[in-house]
Amino acid sequence: MTTPAHVNIVIIDTDPGIDDAIAILYALGHDGIDVAAITTVAGNIGLSVTTRNAGRICALAGVDTPVHAGAAAPLGREARPETGIHGNDGLGGVEFPEPTTAPRSHDAVGAIQAILEAHPPQSIDLHCLGPLTNLALLLQRAPAAAARIRRVIAMGGAVDEPGNVGPKAEFNIAHDPHAAAIVLAAGLDFTLIPLDATRQLRADAAYITALHATGHTPAIAAAELIEAYFTATDGAESRPLHDPCVPLLAQNPRHFRIIERGLAVDIESGALIEGPHRIKVAMGLDAPALRAVLLQGLGT
Ligand code: RIB
Ligand code: CA
Repeated sequence: MTTPAHVNIVIIDTDPGIDDAIAILYALGHDGIDVAAITTVAGNIGLSVTTRNAGRICALAGVDTPVHAGAAAPLGREARPETGIHGNDGLGGVEFPEPTTAPRSHDAVGAIQAILEAHPPQSIDLHCLGPLTNLALLLQRAPAAAARIRRVIAMGGAVDEPGNVGPKAEFNIAHDPHAAAIVLAAGLDFTLIPLDATRQLRADAAYITALHATGHTPAIAAAELIEAYFTATDGAESRPLHDPCVPLLAQNPRHFRIIERGLAVDIESGALIEGPHRIKVAMGLDAPALRAVLLQGLGT
């Protein structure tokens, strides 16, 4: 069966994760996105939990999207989960069904390679919502397959904004700086969405109410995930929706301000610094428009 021209075939690489889950629910419900597979990586929480959560999210969405487990640790260092925000179950304790099927494999890199080789060159997009370990391993293990990727859209980094795990370090990049350095240097069609943009897309109590009011399961789950996000941070009026920016940019680029920057990764600090690798960087967005698009996508 051929995919209609207006539909983007996507592999989602992710560490679900509260905001990952919202991004995945939006993508799975979008008519313009065909999620060929979900590949998991250790990040917010350990690999067994991110992989189980990918299956739980698919079960809630009522889809049988293949899930492939990937890297259990960053390149050359120990994993450092972020349970303080995402909880021990990685989904803030929000009720999700159990996975309806086991992961298709424990070789995410091999699965990405097989999908790329089974489709025409430049017909598959990667949406990266966590540390870039799996993509870096693909570039090392199967560079010819990686060259078949049409574009990569990744949430990560902090350019002019302060970091969230260090003065200039953002979680996804800093969790695996070696992988990020390999990916930035690979010459892919790469769009990065750093905290400079994602911190502008915020959900507040009124947004939670609007999601609940749709009565639609994915929107209600997103509302409960955001509520859990709030409990992890005392006194916050709103919470940033980092990972949903990835599928939102893929389908609504007009709502983002995208520039080109030459960047590199400081391995020691995990921060992005000025460097030779010219990539596209989303530095701003139209938050009211994107909140409406996300509500519409989750709520219908
Ligand atoms: O810094 C935010 C990023 O780190 C998001 O992807 C969040 O899920 C965590 O992985
Ligand atoms: Ca994530």
